[in-house]
Amino acid sequence: MVRLPEFDVERWMNEYETTPGAINTAETCVSSVSINDLFDLSLDKTTSNPINFSTKLLYGPIRGSTELRERVAGLLNSGPSGSTAGDINADDVLITQGAIGANFLSLYTLIHPGDHVICVYPTYQQLYSLPESIGAEVSLWKLRADNGNVPDVSELEGLAKSNTKMIIINNPNNPTGAPIPAEVLTKIAEFAKARDIILFSDEVYRPLFHDLYQPGYVAPPSVASLGYDRSVVTGSMSKAFAMAGIRVGWVASKDKKIIDALAAARDYTSISVSQIDDQLAAYALSPPVLAPLLQRNVGMAKANVALLEAFVNDHKDVCSWVKPKAGTTAFVRFTVQGEPVDDERFCQDLLEKTKVFVVPGSRCFGGGKDFKGYVRFGYVCDTDVLTEGLEKLSVYIKEHLNSAAK
Ligand SMILES: Cc1ncc(COP(=O)(O)O)c(C=O)c1O
Repeated sequence: MVRLPEFDVERWMNEYETTPGAINTAETCVSSVSINDLFDLSLDKTTSNPINFSTKLLYGPIRGSTELRERVAGLLNSGPSGSTAGDINADDVLITQGAIGANFLSLYTLIHPGDHVICVYPTYQQLYSLPESIGAEVSLWKLRADNGNVPDVSELEGLAKSNTKMIIINNPNNPTGAPIPAEVLTKIAEFAKARDIILFSDEVYRPLFHDLYQPGYVAPPSVASLGYDRSVVTGSMSKAFAMAGIRVGWVASKDKKIIDALAAARDYTSISVSQIDDQLAAYALSPPVLAPLLQRNVGMAKANVALLEAFVNDHKDVCSWVKPKAGTTAFVRFTVQGEPVDDERFCQDLLEKTKVFVVPGSRCFGGGKDFKGYVRFGYVCDTDVLTEGLEKLSVYIKEHLNSAAK
């Protein structure tokens, strides 16, 4: 029987996010949208309802509707400035229950006891704890602030073994908010290809690149579009598209054997995903909605990260970070006289005294050992919430940090 350790970040969120009056600056989804918001955003005002009420509520298309899978393929193929970079099509995509379902399905199916896996660190715990629980040996590919939290490809040679089955990356990264640039992705893919290693990329925060609309900005491509067939990517509607409530995610790979193996394993867990959710996701990813939805979400991320940056700059005596360039999360280190704060105590005390809710780094990303003093913010909440949270945090730092968190 596979034994799974506690999923620390999910436990923390479950335990505290419903604290009455919580000022939630921990949530990793862009401030969520409603179906009415999607109508309001849509450039096509002729579509009144994206859900076909006469659809019989069968299991529906087992792998997900063709329309949705085509739209997901479009996202994965999109290169710089809307150009097409890859050749993923609907047959290469499976719809899942969120990216968490896609990750579970992929790792559970493709990794076996005795395999060796390389996984970036810090990242979403599922990506290394699940392989470990299956009986794989996991080497952590540690991100360094002095390298902008971009994985250092020169370290791969030292990490790889003859039985390395998979390299796992998370682009953009949770918790650091660092994207992996195109040239680094290409090198990782070349390394994997030369050794026939599966390249697995959790891209749930893609394409939330803060400079996406800056002229000349080259967004990192999906690993699915790099031309290495043994790449597997996951994503969902939750983060960049602000629709976690429909629980729609996906996994894609050009390798037919991989996709067929995942589809066969998926028979045991999902059969299919809700047809209603599938239709809503397809609507949100349709061109008249996708463009304004993404513009809203990137705009919020860019505006809010500027507020967090001003906060970090104003509190340089106790805060340091690598400013995130993508996604919704930031990993901020808090120190008092050069010593890291006890981040768990800090977060608990902060919540108790001010209702500001954030996530302790060492407890939720470092197994209690690493990332001492780090706090993860989820800052793409409503701007008013972030503003209130940062104001209260400022007061807390002034009044309590020295005594309470040292
Ligand atoms: C890196 C990463 N992958 C996957 C997930 C799960 O997302 P979903 O809501 O799509 O299941 C999360 C959620 O926080 C995440 O941060």
